[in-house]
Amino acid sequence: MSATGSGPDIPTALTLHRGDITEQTVDAVVNAANSSLLGGGGVDGAIHRRGGPEILAECRALRASRYGRGLATGAAVATGAGRLPARWVIHTVGPVWSADVDRTPLLVSCYERSLRAAAELGARTVAFPAISTGIYGWPIDDGARTAVATVRAVTAAMPGTFDEIRFVVFDDRAREAYEAALADDS
Ligand code: AR6
Repeated sequence: MSATGSGPDIPTALTLHRGDITEQTVDAVVNAANSSLLGGGGVDGAIHRRGGPEILAECRALRASRYGRGLATGAAVATGAGRLPARWVIHTVGPVWSADVDRTPLLVSCYERSLRAAAELGARTVAFPAISTGIYGWPIDDGARTAVATVRAVTAAMPGTFDEIRFVVFDDRAREAYEAALADDS
């Protein structure tokens, strides 16, 4: 399901796709990066592999100019998308899961600041992976709930800004977690 057209009266469609984030035909895809901005495994590795060297070149330039010490956890910054079907990649750094400290505000910040960056670019369709739920160890049910609740809140506060926010999951377990989060209207 997705909304067609745009305008302040048409709510942003929140959709769920099982697949590879690098194959999404949307304006912007979000990268689950690390603070170095210089690549890694998981989503980050796939984006740089499929997107080609232009993305890494832009990331290196960002490190040399604005982010000498790296991109902070919870922050987001955009580059072009190289050979990906998307137009932009928004790199964000999720928190590493901790059983002792609640780092949820940092995960919320990833979604909020990625959407803010997307809005500044004029991106109307944005695809998110399940940030922090892979190598960074965040439990998928909680990660999905946080993702959906935050995207709902931001898009409700910015009516008419986005046509579609797409959650892209890699496996059945993650799909179930997002289905449950999307079904929960409370
Ligand atoms: N498309 C969609 N989802 C994917 C893909 C893909 N191609 N690949 C993995 N996932 P992760 P993190 C899912 O590890 O936990 C990197 O080394 C995966 O199943 O990519 O935020 C970075 O450089 C999981 O549910 O990101 C950082 O160092 C989710 O995407 C670190 O990993 C996120 O998994 C970031 O770890």
